[in-house]
Order: sequence, then C-alpha cells, then structure tokens
Amino acid sequence: MKKQITVGIIGCGYWGPLLVRNFKGLADCQLKAVCDVNTERLKHIRTLYPDVEGIAQTQQLLNGANVDAVVIATPVKHHYSLAKASLLAGKHTFIEKPMASSSAECEELIEIAHRNGLVLMIDHTFLYSSPVQKIAQIVQAGDLGEIRYINCRRLNLGLFQKDINVAWDLAPHDISIILHILDELPTTINCQGNAHITPGVEDVTNMSLSFSRKRFATIQSSWLEPRKIREMTIVGTRRMIVYDDLRTREKIRIYDARVERPPHYDTFAEFQYSYHYGDSYIPYLHQEEPLKLACQHFVDCIKTNSQPLTDGRRGLEMVRILEAASTSVKMNGAPVTLSHSSSAAPVFAPVKVEEMLQVEAFAG
Ligand SMILES: NC(=O)c1ccc[n+]([C@@H]2O[C@H](COP(=O)([O-])OP(=O)(O)OC[C@H]3O[C@@H](n4cnc5c(N)ncnc54)[C@H](O)[C@@H]3O)[C@@H](O)[C@H]2O)c1
Repeated sequence: MKKQITVGIIGCGYWGPLLVRNFKGLADCQLKAVCDVNTERLKHIRTLYPDVEGIAQTQQLLNGANVDAVVIATPVKHHYSLAKASLLAGKHTFIEKPMASSSAECEELIEIAHRNGLVLMIDHTFLYSSPVQKIAQIVQAGDLGEIRYINCRRLNLGLFQKDINVAWDLAPHDISIILHILDELPTTINCQGNAHITPGVEDVTNMSLSFSRKRFATIQSSWLEPRKIREMTIVGTRRMIVYDDLRTREKIRIYDARVERPPHYDTFAEFQYSYHYGDSYIPYLHQEEPLKLACQHFVDCIKTNSQPLTDGRRGLEMVRILEAASTSVKMNGAPVTLSHSSSAAPVFAPVKVEEMLQVEAFAG
C-alpha cells in the first residue's frame, strides 16, 4: 500500500470543516478535494486551505479527483445514495453518524463494501475519546460491580435538523457509548417524544433501552433546553461514575459509593439500609481530539486492510435501535422488541482499575 492515502470530503457545513482540519493534519493522508453543492461553503474551505480542490459535483469527485477514500458529512438523508455511489466507484468510505436513514440501506452498504473489499467506517466519534475508553476499561474490569443502570442527558438549544428528529441527531452518541460499555445489544426500546417547533420532527425525546438481567439505560435528548448539558451517570453495585463531557478537565469522577440492604433481621426496628460513602477519584485522561483519532483509524484501516472498530455492522446496530425508537414514539412509548443476530464485541481490552487510576485529584 502506498504511503499516503488520498481523501475527498463531501459536505462542508457545520461538521465537515472539522473533518477537513483533521484529515489535513494527518501525516499519512493527503486531503485532495472537498465537495459541496453550496459554492459558498466551498469558497470558505478554499480560503482556509487553498491547496485543496473545491468541487461542486459529487460525480466529479468520485470519478475525476483520483482519491482512495471518501468522507461523507452531509445531512443523513443523503448518506445512503452518496455512500453507495462512493463504494461502487471503488472508494473506501467514511460516513458520519447515523450511518443511513434505514437499516435496509445500511445492510446494502455493508454488502457492497464487503463484496468490493473496501473499508466502511461510521463516525461514532465518542468511542475514540479517552473518557469513554477509560470508562469502558473500568467497567469491563468489573470495578463498578454489576451495572444497575446508565442515565444520559444530552441537551441544548438547537441546532434544529430538518430531516431527522433529536433522537437520531443526539442519541447516537449516547447509544454508541452505552453499547460499548455494556458490551451488549438491548432487547427492547421505549421512546416518547414531542415535536414542538417543526411538525413531525420531535425536538425532545426520552428513550429507554432494556438489557439482560433487568439493566436499563435512559437517554434524554433535547434541542429545547436553555443550558448545554452532556452528562452520563453509570451506577454499579460497588461504585458509580459521573461523566461530564463539558468539563475541560476532570471529565470523569469515580465514586466509591453504594447502598445495600442487609440480608436478614428478626425485627422491623433493627432494619437499616447500609449506605457506603467512600472516596471519589478523578482518573488521569490523555488529552487527544477524538475526531483526529477516528480519522487516523480510518486511514490506518485502509493501509492495513483491516476492519474499523466502528464498522458498518456497528452503524447498522445503531440505526436498528433508532428505527425502533421512532416506532415506539409513534406508539406513545410502547416497547419495541429488537432481534439481533450477533452481540457487540468488546472493543478495548479490559484493564484493572487500580492499574490505571493515576490519581490527579482526590476528594474525601
Ligand atoms: N460525529 C459528530 O459528533 C457529529 C457532530 C455533528 C454532525 N455530525 C453529522 O455530520 C453530518 C453533517 O451534519 P452538519 O451539521 O454538518 O450538516 P450541515 O447541514 O451543517 O452541512 C451539510 C453540508 O452538506 C452539503 N450537502 C448536502 N447535500 C449534498 C450533496 N448531495 N452533495 C454535496 N454536498 C451536500 C450542504 O450544502 C451542507 O453544506 C450529519 O450526518 C451529522 O449527523 C456528526
């Protein structure tokens, strides 16, 4: 395989320029061209990066720009047609989350990539972030005990999307993290939501994913909140984690806290819940931009002909959950059962929490 992978990016709106910056910064990658139907956006990128070609027609990028790989950062409704054209043109393809608008579209893209021996990667960015990698290591090492539940809140004012509701826009981040942490797919999905601003497009949703052994995860997503919130609480039988992604430092805090019911007492008067309040720890996190690691991973997979951590199968699992959530919204939150052929494989090797907690700060 040649030393530099040549890349073209389709979609230069809000998220595309971040991909442009990151692919531009990789040593073993050459960003050759960007493509957008909006010429103003092309002009903007060309002002920042005059050496990158600006193309208004996707066919020209796919057939004329001589790139090895294509990155798709358009609204979700265009993901399938653009990714299909890219794969059929023989390009390794990176698609922004969520992978496509339906599971049938995802299945077809996976099949085309497989048949043509091409790398297909979905940008589930948070799986490349150090807080999530650290949480997964801690959970998989068993240091929280059994997970009881996970609670996520991803709230802010806007940005309103026209083609997808807030669950399809924001919840993929939480869903990808939850599946990764629990290393399992949910059995049922419940979701309630309301469309207050754009008819038919829910701007507030509450989703619940049920897992084996009565565990569940709740995800609150909103474009209507005054404050930006990105929080996740993971409650285990032995310890708990609070992850606040908006903090610049100390994003994760591990609480040595639990409550237990004593096994047996003869009289009601003797009965006392046992509350344990221990130390809390802030583990050291290596600071690296997750999107940069995701972009590098895509390039590495092309060079080594290997399967990405967030491959088409992961993208399909996500879209199946989102489809189930949309079905549940239409039934006012009634449960929708998921059938899965395989379980999610662990992505990061488990490490004992004692080995990796380099205590940066301490609170008694
Ligand atoms: N991974 C993340 O954390 C993250 C964050 C934000 C957005 N995203 C994803 O990125 C994608 C883009 O989101 P956005 O907020 O940047 O959208 P956006 O609407 O701001 O930008 C999309 C751009 O694509 C262009 N476009 C549309 N159709 C096109 C076509 N057929 N050919 C070429 N260009 C076309 C538009 O002109 C626009 O400039 C979405 O899939 C979104 O879910 C991911």
